[in-house]
Amino acid sequence: MHLALFAPGMSTPNITVLATGGTIAGEADSATRHDYRPGQIGIGDFLARVETLGIDAQLTGKQIANIGSEDMSPAIWTHLHTACLAAMGDPDCTGVIITHGTDTVEETAFLLDLTLPTHKPVVLVGAMRPANAVGYDGLRNFANAMRVATDPDAAGRGVLVVMGDRVFAARDIRKSRTRGTDAFQGFPRGSIALVTPSALDWFGAPWRVGADARFTFTTDLPDVPILFVHAAMTADYVERLVSDKTRGVVVAGLGEGNMPDAVRSALAQLAAKGLPIVRASRLDEGLVDREPEDNANKFIAARALNPQKARILLQMVIAAGTTDPAAIQAEYDGR
Ligand code: DGL
Repeated sequence: MHLALFAPGMSTPNITVLATGGTIAGEADSATRHDYRPGQIGIGDFLARVETLGIDAQLTGKQIANIGSEDMSPAIWTHLHTACLAAMGDPDCTGVIITHGTDTVEETAFLLDLTLPTHKPVVLVGAMRPANAVGYDGLRNFANAMRVATDPDAAGRGVLVVMGDRVFAARDIRKSRTRGTDAFQGFPRGSIALVTPSALDWFGAPWRVGADARFTFTTDLPDVPILFVHAAMTADYVERLVSDKTRGVVVAGLGEGNMPDAVRSALAQLAAKGLPIVRASRLDEGLVDREPEDNANKFIAARALNPQKARILLQMVIAAGTTDPAAIQAEYDGR
């Protein structure tokens, strides 16, 4: 089967594929075993498998790392960001696909979303089953990602993630299940397009056409821990979490960013000393809006961002030199 991604008469698209590992490059000891090792197959072998699909596209691969994405690091992010910028600056490059483990794909996608311009599609893709498992979803997901990365209409939507037959915006996507191929959700928008290797249906127009990067990429990411709130939490948890290096705290709060009074007071004391404190929720879905006490406490509401993405945004904002709570709040309010 030969699938033309562009209409007849258009030239063959060139896709840069940046590989970082994950289950999409994973292998198990048998086709039915549950346990497996992520990041085993190199980019050369992976692209040889993709070629068997017969899709009309020129693929140029680069191995950035070959890890389980639990080991993603600022050093690998730097390498990845540099490679993305190089590909996006190459006039022959149509779009970029990044293969990635699913555990932290939402964080890498959001970091790149904040630090890349939007003039070419950048699409992350993973798999929930290793490459030699029965029902491997990696090739299907990758073929879908090729469909997205070669669509001119994919640019101007920020960084995208393709999982299953759905396309998510980096700001919305979150992993919501430990197993199964339907492991991702979007909030507040669900998926923003449906995709198959031969069809792509967007649910709206691009909203960031020709936009510059929102933040300058930096390897010097400030120390921002996440405080996971639970019943019967006492204020000493805050003291144990925060050190001299800490530059801000994200609270994975109860419900709409709630916490026990003693914890709130301990955090308000830190905010009074100039440490930005962002209230997010430990729940899967829902906005965290400002509450009346936030003004007095100098707290910031994470709005639709989950704690792990609220943390990345706070790191970027602090690295950019912004410390005023109202100015930081504006970054969470914007899209
Ligand atoms: N350890 C996981 C990772 O690389 C494997 C899970 C996956 O890729 O689905 O994120």
